[in-house]
Amino acid sequence: MSPTANPTATPAAPAARGQSQTIDLADKIRRIEGHWQPRVVAEMNDYQFKVVKVLGDFPWHRHAETDETFLVLDGELRIEHRASPHDEPSVIVLRAGQMAVVPQGVEHRPSAEHEVKMLLIEPRGVVNTGDGAKGERTVANDQWV
Ligand code: NI
Repeated sequence: MSPTANPTATPAAPAARGQSQTIDLADKIRRIEGHWQPRVVAEMNDYQFKVVKVLGDFPWHRHAETDETFLVLDGELRIEHRASPHDEPSVIVLRAGQMAVVPQGVEHRPSAEHEVKMLLIEPRGVVNTGDGAKGERTVANDQWV
């Protein structure tokens, strides 16, 4: 593959893919309407950096194929997680400047009592609501801001 080839990017992706430039995450988030609407700000190899603001509970879901990183920029995020639906969930609490990696295959449910702004790091093509049926929270991939 040539250094400029990027076969899986959609036309919405800027040619520079967010590289070699300063990216102001707070500014990007201000341009997003609504909650649970992740938007790509940059790519690194096959990974995407997505900003999102969230409020309330997200559905339980899992990603069989990938880990998922949450980096909180503002607010307090709770991530319940469990190895299987029969297990008692554990909880991770993340505040501004804190991050966590949810391992692949682990069921998780992010929630925010008050609005949270965060950065997600995950491979291109990951469905935000995880494996299985899509729901009302499912968002199209590769939407840049
Ligand atoms: Ni997830």
